[in-house]
Amino acid sequence: MNKFFMFLFSILVLTSLSSSAAIYKGQREFVKKCVKCHKAGQAFVATKKKRTWKKLLAKKGKQLAQLHINSTKKKAKKSKKYFKKRKFKKKAKHLKQFLMEYASDSGNVPACN
Ligand code: HEC
Repeated sequence: MNKFFMFLFSILVLTSLSSSAAIYKGQREFVKKCVKCHKAGQAFVATKKKRTWKKLLAKKGKQLAQLHINSTKKKAKKSKKYFKKRKFKKKAKHLKQFLMEYASDSGNVPACN
């Protein structure tokens, strides 16, 4: 394959991947950060409707962050540092896409991984 062809090919692959990339990134973040406390994992995602997730994750996840930061529960303590980080704010929009994709009224079930 010559270079130009390789170039075209990679553009094609990249564009087809990027639409699902945000959801994938959100899922990765969810598995990495949320599942350790919300053990139901994907079932937990399906306890909420799209609208609820959208609201919780709006404005860079402000409500979701506040909910954990203001919690008096012992279990929430460890999440406070994470929710205060800029990293969480940056990931909030990916998380939102993932959570909404698999909300109870979405009709989607995530692949087992
Ligand atoms: C260190 C543990 C911890 C982590 C990490 C954590 N949570 Fe929570 N979360 C809690 C606890 C504890 C509560 C209950 C807070 C309360 O009621 O005071 C809670 C409450 C919630 C609620 C509202 C209660 C409900 O079930 O409707 C949502 C939604 C939620 N978490 C989503 C998430 C998401 C999404 C993430 C990942 C970005 C996350 N949590 C990360 C511990 C955690």
